[in-house]
Amino acid sequence: MGFTGSYAQRIEKLPPYLFVEIDRLKNEALKQGKDIIDIGIGDPDIPTPAVIVEAMKRAVENPAHHRYPSTQGMMSFRETAATWCKNRFGIDIDPAKQVCALIGSKEGIANIPLAFVNPGDVVLVPDPGYPVYKSSTLFCGGVIHLMPLREENGFMPDLSAIPADVAKKAKLMFINYPNNPTSAVATADFFREVVDFAVKNEIIVCHDAAYSEVAFDSYRAPSFLETPGAGAVGVEFHSLSKTFCMTGWRLGFAVGNPEVISGLAKIKSNIDSGAFQAIQEAGIVALTKALGVAGNIYKVFERRRDVFAQGLRKIGLEFEMPKATFYIWIKVPKPYTSAQFAKKLLEQADIVMTPGTGFGVNGEGYIRAALTVPEERLKEAVSRIEKLL
Ligand SMILES: Cc1ncc(COP(=O)(O)O)c(C=O)c1O
Repeated sequence: MGFTGSYAQRIEKLPPYLFVEIDRLKNEALKQGKDIIDIGIGDPDIPTPAVIVEAMKRAVENPAHHRYPSTQGMMSFRETAATWCKNRFGIDIDPAKQVCALIGSKEGIANIPLAFVNPGDVVLVPDPGYPVYKSSTLFCGGVIHLMPLREENGFMPDLSAIPADVAKKAKLMFINYPNNPTSAVATADFFREVVDFAVKNEIIVCHDAAYSEVAFDSYRAPSFLETPGAGAVGVEFHSLSKTFCMTGWRLGFAVGNPEVISGLAKIKSNIDSGAFQAIQEAGIVALTKALGVAGNIYKVFERRRDVFAQGLRKIGLEFEMPKATFYIWIKVPKPYTSAQFAKKLLEQADIVMTPGTGFGVNGEGYIRAALTVPEERLKEAVSRIEKLL
C-alpha cells in the first residue's frame, strides 16, 4: 500500500493557515492582471548592498568554501558577530562558546525548543507573534501558553498575568523586540522584569532581535543581553535578513548563554550542517563594511513610514507611529474584523495587507502593513483605501 494521506500529529496540530484565503484571492487578482499593491509580507524590496554581493562573488570561487561548514559557524564569522555585539551593544561575547551561526534566525527559533523542551513542558509565547514560536513548540510536544500583547501595556506581555503553576512548568519564553507585528519596542524595565521572572522560575529566555537595526529617528534598540543577569538566562537571535536586506541568503546567529548555545548546536549538528561558508564570508563583510549603507536603507524605510503614516492619519486610520521595524500595526475600522477588512482591501482596492489574526487570536482588530514598496505606491494605497472607506 502506498501513502495513505495521513500526516504526523505534529502537522495536524499546527494552527490553521489564515493566509490561505488571502493568498488565493491575491493569485486570482494577479491572474486577472490587476495592479496589486502587496504590502502583506515582510520582505524588503531593496536589493542587498553591492559590497556584500561582491564579497559573495569572491567567496563562492574559493574551493575551501565548497566543503561542509562547521555546525556552529566559522570562527571568523563568530568573532565578527561577537565584535559587532560589543561595538553595537557594549556586551562581551565569547566567540568560541557564546555564538552559533544560523541558517537565518528562523532556523534557530525553530530548532531551539528541540534542545530544551520535553513533551508537556510549557513554552511562553507572545501573541500576536511570529508564527514559528508556536510551531516549533508544537513540534517537540510542548504546550503553548499565550502571552497577549496589548496596546495598554505597550504591546509587552504582562508577566504578572501568567499563573504561578504555568510559570513553574515553563521551560522557555520567546520575546521579540522591536516587535513583529506590532512594531512596539521594549523598555529596559520590561527586560529587567523578564530576567527576574526567568531566574525565579528557571526559564530560558529566547529574545528574537531580528529587527534590532531597522529603527527610525534617533531610536536605537537595545539588546536583551545588556540587562544585568540576562546572560545567565538567555540567548538572543540576530539576523542579517532585515539588517542588510538579505532575506534570501539565510544567515543569522544566536548569542548568549553558553549552555543554551551548546544545546542549540547539538540539535543543529543532527539536522543541518551549518550555513554555507561563502555566505558567512559575505556576512563578515556585511557586519564590518556595510553598516553605513544599511543605515541609508533604514532612511528609505523611515521616509516611507512618514509618507504612509501621514496618509493613513489623514483618512482617519489609527496606529502608533513605529520607532522600529518596517511594519505599521493599524487598527481595523469598524465594523470589520481583521480578516474581513483584509479581504475587502484585496477585493475592492487591490491591496494585500496581513490580517492581525494571522499572528494569533490577540491580533484581532488590527491589520499589518509592511513598508516594502516605494513611497509612490504607498501614496496610491492610501488613496485607494480612502475611496474604499
Ligand atoms: C520576528 C521575526 N523573527 C525572525 C524572523 C526570521 O528571519 P530570518 O530567518 O530571515 O533571519 C522573522 C522573519 O520575518 C521575523 O519577522
